[in-house]
Formats: sequence, structure tokens, C-alpha cells
Amino acid sequence: MSFLSETLSRVKPSPTIAMTTKAQELKAAGQSVIGLSAGEPDFDTPDHIKDAAIAAIRAGKTKYTAPDGMPELKQAICAKFARENSLSYEPAQISVGTGGKQILYNALMATLNPGDEVIIPAPYWVSYPDMVLLAGGVPKPLTCGPEHGYKLTPAALEAAITPRTKWLIFNSPSNPTGAGYAWDELKALTEVLLRHPHVWIMTDDMYEHLVYDDFTFCTPAEVEPALYPRTLTVNGVSKAYAMTGWRIGYAGGPVALIGAMRKIQSQSTSNPCTISQWASVEALNGSQDFIAANNVAFKRRRDLVVSMLNAAEGIDCPTPEGAFYVYPTIGGCLGKTSKGGKLLATDEDFCNALLDETGVAVVFGAAFGLSPAFRVSYATSDDALKDACSRIGEFCAGLR
Ligand SMILES: Cc1ncc(COP(=O)(O)O)c(C=O)c1O
Repeated sequence: MSFLSETLSRVKPSPTIAMTTKAQELKAAGQSVIGLSAGEPDFDTPDHIKDAAIAAIRAGKTKYTAPDGMPELKQAICAKFARENSLSYEPAQISVGTGGKQILYNALMATLNPGDEVIIPAPYWVSYPDMVLLAGGVPKPLTCGPEHGYKLTPAALEAAITPRTKWLIFNSPSNPTGAGYAWDELKALTEVLLRHPHVWIMTDDMYEHLVYDDFTFCTPAEVEPALYPRTLTVNGVSKAYAMTGWRIGYAGGPVALIGAMRKIQSQSTSNPCTISQWASVEALNGSQDFIAANNVAFKRRRDLVVSMLNAAEGIDCPTPEGAFYVYPTIGGCLGKTSKGGKLLATDEDFCNALLDETGVAVVFGAAFGLSPAFRVSYATSDDALKDACSRIGEFCAGLR
């Protein structure tokens, strides 16, 4: 009998972390490596947020809080939902966790029974299917290709729903594609969901603030208020506030679900870091000006990467609405051999050869459930992006 649980044998380690680790090892060995695989902003946490954390420490606010968040932060989150999403939540409808990741995991653990299905539009954030498996459910990936801008269509959603469907996980703007749903696109999906009252919506709005051009963010319960009683609206401070390491995520949802999530958290990790909660109060209540300034840089980098990648042979790179990722397809590169002699049969082969031969680290599409493609995170300097994209261009030009 195995010492490790059977549940664990169903899940795999995060491929994005594996790629980042491989890149770090090559760098440590002295190679010139450009990492475009990590999903975090290169900007520092703004000073006023850091100062709030330091003040909290000095004031002795260093004890336990309520397991799913302290009242001051829940108030700030309610105000944020009202101000930015026209959603009315009471503090009893709010859960705060150690990152959005824990919130999503708690929600799945709190609701899934064996055989329950979760629809996950693909390409997807790598953790969704494995979290569903850990929680005992059945992930149902639903391919959303570049022909529809990597977005779920109402017909595909309708066809995927079964009597066992418990959740649809919705993520806009998306990791890994950056695709964002406009109001009318989301409205068409909510019309399908209205016809299936047993399906709940877990919306991951982590990249809400990172949108470009004239795109306007919207979230399911805002677009269709009739879905509010069966929607969990998940968000966090990691991406827009450059606070990945502080580990604060949160959600608004029905009281019974929030209570079930609290039960799990109270018996596992207890409250998220108290100091990080005070920093998050300041993040949500304080000045938001830096977000627009950061977005000017993100948009410039997105445009740079899209144009340089589209100039590379065999690569086709759509322009996404938001987040800090692009997801080019590489159909034109497969079946060829790299200068270093590697046959590129899959997108994983492509990304491994790219890293070994040029030092550019990106993540292969199979990790996100849609091939042949790769994900670029452009949350790094313009110079590094230019260098990386020219190396990718040369790599592609060298394929035979
Ligand atoms: C789509 C998406 N959801 C959730 C998360 C989790 O964010 P965190 O746990 O840092 O709040 C991430 C982080 O990469 C993400 O990309």
C-alpha cells in the first residue's frame, strides 16, 4: 500500500513553476537567461501599502484575526465590490484567504462530491483542473481556440453542461491568454446559465484592473443580477497591486458557501497573515493612481511583444484585451528541427529547445490545455522583452 494518498497521484506539480525553476538553474550555471514564465508583475509594491504594513507591525497588530479575515478588511472589500463592480455584499458574505488560490481551493473543497463536474474553459490557469481533482471532482476542460479569441461561446457552454455540472470556472481577463469578455459576450453566456439553475459560477477576476485600449471589465453577477445567488466572485491584491508575496485573496458570495469555506480555513491555515491584511486594507482604500501608470507600461509591452512575435516565422500571436500574457500559436514551427538538432514534435519540445538554445523561458501550451502554443508573461522590462523576442525570432528562422 502506498504511503502517499491516492488523491495526490491524480495531480501534477505546477508546470509554470517547473519551467521557472529550470530557468533559474540555467541562470545559476552562468547562462544568459530571460525568464518570461512567471506570472507576477515586475513592479514593486507601492510605498503607501508597505507603510501601512510597517505601521501595523509597530502598532502591535500582529495577533490572530477571524479565520476568514478581519472586519476592517471585509469592509474594504465590500466597498470595493460596490464601487467597482456594482455588487452589494455584506461582510458575512466575504471570505479572505492566503491568496486567491486558497479561496478557489476552499470553495471547491467545500462543494465538490465525487463525480461532480467542473467546466473549465481551455486554455486555463494551470491550477484549476488539479484543484478540482484534489477536491474529488471531475474537471471538464472545454477547448476555446484562437478562432474565437480564446473565448467560450454560448453554444459550447450549452453543449458542455450535464446534470452533474456543479461549477463553471470563468476567468476574464484570462491567464494564460489575456482574453477578456466584453459585456455583451458575457451576457450571452449568462443567458445560457440562466437556463441551468443547478450550475454555479466561480468567477476569477484576478486580472480585473489589468485591461488595455478601450476594454471595460465586467463580472457575471454584475452583468446578470439573477445569477448573484449562485456566483462566487473571486479577486485579490496579487496582480494589480503588485502584492504576490503578501498572499491575500478574497471572494464575495452566498452566506452558506462563505460559511463552509470558513470551516475549512479554520481547520487548516486559520487567518491569512494579519500584517498582509492591514496592507490590503490600504491597497483597497488608498490611492489607486499607480494602477493606471503601471498599465501604460503593460500595454506598451504587450504591443511590443505581439508585433515582434508576429514577425517570427511560424508564430501567430493574437492581441489580448488584458492581463500580462500573450498566447501565440506555433503550428508553423512543429515537425521542424532546431539548429541544436532537436525535433520539435510538440509545444513542450519547442519550449525546451528554446530555453536550451536561446535562454528564453516560456511555458508550453499543453500545460494550459491548448496546443500547439506557448505563454509569454510580459511583466518584465522592455529591454528584456526586445532581447527575448529577437532570440525567439532567430530560433524560428533557424528551424529546418
Ligand atoms: C487566473 C489566476 N487566478 C488566481 C491566481 C492566484 O493568485 P494569488 O493566489 O496570488 O492571489 C493566479 C495567479 O497566478 C491567476 O493567474
